[in-house]
Amino acid sequence: MSVTRVELAGRSYEVRVDGGLLADVANQCGPLLRKKRVPVITDANVAKHWQEPVAKSLEAAGHEPRFLVLDPGEGSKSWAVLERVMDWLLAEEVERGDHILALGGGVIGDLTGFAAAILKRGCGFIQLPTTLLAQVDSSVGGKTAINTSAGKNLVGAFHQPSLVLADLDTLSTLPQRELGAGYAEVIKYGILGDRAFFDWCEDNGAKVMAGDREAQEYAVTESVKAKARIVAEDERETTGTRALLNLGHTFGHALEAQTGFSDRLLHGEGVALGMVLSARYSARKAYISQDDAARVTAAISSAGLPSEIAALGLNCSGDALAAHMLHDKKMDAGTLPFILLRDIGEAFVDKQVELSDVSTFLGEQLQAH
Ligand SMILES: NC(=O)c1ccc[n+]([C@@H]2O[C@H](COP(=O)([O-])OP(=O)(O)OC[C@H]3O[C@@H](n4cnc5c(N)ncnc54)[C@H](O)[C@@H]3O)[C@@H](O)[C@H]2O)c1
Repeated sequence: MSVTRVELAGRSYEVRVDGGLLADVANQCGPLLRKKRVPVITDANVAKHWQEPVAKSLEAAGHEPRFLVLDPGEGSKSWAVLERVMDWLLAEEVERGDHILALGGGVIGDLTGFAAAILKRGCGFIQLPTTLLAQVDSSVGGKTAINTSAGKNLVGAFHQPSLVLADLDTLSTLPQRELGAGYAEVIKYGILGDRAFFDWCEDNGAKVMAGDREAQEYAVTESVKAKARIVAEDERETTGTRALLNLGHTFGHALEAQTGFSDRLLHGEGVALGMVLSARYSARKAYISQDDAARVTAAISSAGLPSEIAALGLNCSGDALAAHMLHDKKMDAGTLPFILLRDIGEAFVDKQVELSDVSTFLGEQLQAH
């Protein structure tokens, strides 16, 4: 088992990475579960595979698990579902000192975390992430949110979990495309801040995707360490360090918007393409070499992730893609910061990027193959 501490003044917590953690959840949580009744929020896909080991472990320790099983998908990060969750937690008489278990991917983690942030002005919660994306990214760092008609993640809170248990066994039931979407976030840590880890990803990405346990454990652990470091440095995204995690997200967001935030392009796939575009745009500005941009592209495509926007068949102009960026929530006083590369392993925030230049660049990329 690897254990990484997220160091935050007065609210430090552990992220444990191993197999078998859900089957041992009661023991892992120990005194954090102080009452007989334990509320667990999950979704139907996750429940099918992972409700039983969690229930068995809790029951064996004398607890009475109570499950709220929600519909899978982004649609559950809504006001309506939040209301349902809050009413259920209140009916279950959850109190401030209690912990709610969030068993699922980023959707369940974000929703449960936000519910925990506002229930009785804040109760505890424990992340049990079951997707690669949730294990390496969303379960660590305390960002919680729901979506509204105005956009994604616009209503939320910073609320840190008390513990994160990333059970590698859960990756075995995850659809391959979802594994890929999570892997995009893994390789992101290498590209943005750790060249040696990028090198490792170049050599081992295919193994992670093929289910190699040792490679998956290393990938998740290194990613968690990177995220923990960044969050400890800049918990509330005020110094710029945490903003680097948005590498690939501005380009990716435009592509997600153009494909209607649908299954046509998963968020992680958008991030993968966005990282390719960030690297190519960095090369266009002569910050990095064309060879390095090609290396980033090859590392992403060799893990089975999309790397060419021309292949999406978008049938739109560069201007149309760039226009989506104006609605990006990272817009700050009229300018949109872009995360670009000075080197592989060295990302930086560029606030001087001309949107018209980005639009020309995107037009070229749409034609390229
Ligand atoms: N809080 C943060 O810092 C942060 C960071 C990145 C992303 N996010 C959020 O995370 C969400 C995306 O997370 P996600 O990709 O985990 O999506 P998700 O929670 O929707 O899970 C993806 C799909 O996999 C299914 N699933 C989950 N675990 C499974 C398993 N072990 N076996 C079989 N099926 C399983 C789910 O039911 C769902 O259909 C988005 O809402 C995004 O905004 C938050």
